Amino acid sequence: FLMNQPKPVRKAVFPVAGLGTRFLPATKSIPKEMLPIVDKPLIQYAVEEALEAGIDTLIFVTSRNKHAISDHFDTAFELQTRLAQDGKTGLLQRINQIVPDEVNLVYVTQPEALGLGHAILCAETIVGDEPFAILLADDMIRNDGPGALAQMVDLYRESGASVIGVEEIPDEMTTSYGVVGVEVNDQGRSAIHTMVEKPVPEDAPSRLGVVGRYVLDPAVFSYLHGVTAGSGGEIQLTDGIAAMLQTHPVLALPFEGERYDCGSRHGFIKATIDYAIDHDDIRDDMLDHMSDLLEQF
Ligand code: UTP
Repeated sequence: FLMNQPKPVRKAVFPVAGLGTRFLPATKSIPKEMLPIVDKPLIQYAVEEALEAGIDTLIFVTSRNKHAISDHFDTAFELQTRLAQDGKTGLLQRINQIVPDEVNLVYVTQPEALGLGHAILCAETIVGDEPFAILLADDMIRNDGPGALAQMVDLYRESGASVIGVEEIPDEMTTSYGVVGVEVNDQGRSAIHTMVEKPVPEDAPSRLGVVGRYVLDPAVFSYLHGVTAGSGGEIQLTDGIAAMLQTHPVLALPFEGERYDCGSRHGFIKATIDYAIDHDDIRDDMLDHMSDLLEQF
């Protein structure tokens, strides 16, 4: 595992081609990643986290309904003209500067929802031979300090090894996560030696669940090509990374920050409440409402 100076992590892949069945009918005509937490869609929070980590190329793997995502990051000429005419500069700023001009946006299509691993393979030619990040926007990570991806990119820069975001999960949740087995290596870092997708608690190598943040060596693509449909009949990213472990080191990082599983309805609503309380203009109203509610139950 001898490493030269690792290449910078410049590209991030955002898979947004899932079916989002847990949010039907809301996700019938828009991708799950366009659902808003307070006033921003999930995908925008993830994009902001990536930009903060130094990413300059955003690659969206889309399917049907792809227009909603590209429209969101495109200029909205009529809306901007109107807001400018009405002197609504605050609002104008909020829609104008979502992504700085120097950042590249690339859209690729996943023709069929064959799994997350398959979605990542759709980005292979755009990523090329460079380390890259993956962000699943439905995992939202709230932070006061540096964002989760920035923490992971730092570790990649120091170690030259791929990095996966993990967190402690309760026993009964192993069947909903990729679970990793780790051992502490010579540098005192948690090196992954096993990775299992959605194991029953008895088969789970630990209680460290994989969260939707990855910094990966491009070698993962050749391993993904060898993966056949696994858990749930889908081509799993976990299986590709598990195969890569034989030849490439992969570290687990229990990042700082609070994660919300916005792919589930209760996680989505928790995030909505916590982010609403972060907004000065609606905080008091929200808290009053919640204390009224609590009195009733
Ligand atoms: P999920 O496992 O959350 O699946 O995908 P889903 O289809 O989005 O949602 P449910 O479970 O039906 O409600 C994890 C991530 O992988 C992407 C999704 O968009 C999400 O960001 N994904 C999944 C794809 O891009 N393509 C796929 O074929 C599957």
